[in-house]
Amino acid sequence: MSDTIKVSPIEAIKGELAVPGDKSISHRVAILAGLSDGPCRVENFLPSEDCVNTLRAMGQLGVRYEVERGTEDAPLDLIIHGCKGALRAPTVELDCGNSGTGMRLLAGVLAAQKFDSVLTGDDSLSSRPMGRIMKPLEEMGAKLDARGAKPGCAPLHITGGELESIIYEMPMASAQVKSAVLLAGLFAPDKTTVIQPATTRDHSERLLNAFGVTVMTEGNTISLYGQQRIRSCDVVVPGDISSAAFWIVAAACRPGSKLLITNVGLNPTRTGLINVLIRMGAHIKDVVLHDDGGEPRGNIEVVGQELHGVEILPEEIPNLIDEVPILAVAGALAKGKMTIRNAEELRVKETDRIETTVTNLREMGVEVEEFEDGMIIQGGASLKGAALKSFGDHRIAMAFAMAGLLAESGTTTIEDTGCVNTSYPGFADHLKDIRKR
Ligand code: S3P
Repeated sequence: MSDTIKVSPIEAIKGELAVPGDKSISHRVAILAGLSDGPCRVENFLPSEDCVNTLRAMGQLGVRYEVERGTEDAPLDLIIHGCKGALRAPTVELDCGNSGTGMRLLAGVLAAQKFDSVLTGDDSLSSRPMGRIMKPLEEMGAKLDARGAKPGCAPLHITGGELESIIYEMPMASAQVKSAVLLAGLFAPDKTTVIQPATTRDHSERLLNAFGVTVMTEGNTISLYGQQRIRSCDVVVPGDISSAAFWIVAAACRPGSKLLITNVGLNPTRTGLINVLIRMGAHIKDVVLHDDGGEPRGNIEVVGQELHGVEILPEEIPNLIDEVPILAVAGALAKGKMTIRNAEELRVKETDRIETTVTNLREMGVEVEEFEDGMIIQGGASLKGAALKSFGDHRIAMAFAMAGLLAESGTTTIEDTGCVNTSYPGFADHLKDIRKR
């Protein structure tokens, strides 16, 4: 889909907004509810292409579900009937679309089944590294074959079989890799342990607990025993803080703005962006109102201020990894210099997000120096409207739509924005609505 978003500058961001459900949690709920021992009611599932692909894949593996609100293609509330861990062989290849999370987490589950399967994805996903999950899964005894045009890339052919428990020291801070190993560990006979080099989002651990699986966390070491019962449970998915991030930044760095975001996930392993913005001088208040299913959710209030650039700390990177493009926009508008380093993981996201962010910032007149692991942005820029590309990356499309709103002059057009539907269906409507307030 090749849509275009056109944005002109706005004076201030005002009003109240609720963003769609969390992408990371929706993927995990589709998988865990599907494996559980009974019906699970899921509220506020993210009806985006990425998560629907994971849900469909579970359907193709024999899991039944009924949509209660929304449609088959865009479910919001649904009942997933857990299959008690008894998945059946798919008769088709499982298409993960654009989603690295979908492919890597499903690979963890499929490696342990009694049948073979194939995971495929779009061009972007077929050029992203799968070796990072193949290595630990192969150590567990799994047989995976990456048959893509690029070495180590999808399509992934998985020969299912019995796995062994392992202790895996993860070389990169990746919640996807951690989750793939833990999901595979559910089917192994003994204790599986993952040691992460830095704290990454812990949705898998929290949800596993909600589904009755005991997960032991000691610092950055996470373990679980296999063969535990996965008990059905109901889940309310909070709004996605990574989607809220676009509006939080837009409001935070534009004086005169006042924005309330409701029902959003406030898991501390995801709120790195808020901490950094506060260090930049932002006025942001978050309040946890619910803590059901182990995932805190609540409201975020933002009042616009002039911000100043800061250095992002290495340990902060994993907890704001998806927010770097929009944070870079904040850095361009803030006074002084913004330093983002230790973020080489960005090079293997939906696009090389260091390159795509730097390219678009420069198009808008920002001075930015690119490094292998990040960028240094000269702040205080007056952004100029420009003709930009999304490069097929949803977060680049939305970050630069915000840059267009915050530009000093000119209209910004972003080409190829159909990709926004992978994480934030309804974004274009929110962009229109924000002008009416
Ligand atoms: C995700 C983890 C992150 C993140 C991605 C979603 C997840 O990737 O960038 O958008 O749901 O586990 P990595 O774990 O590969 O860093």
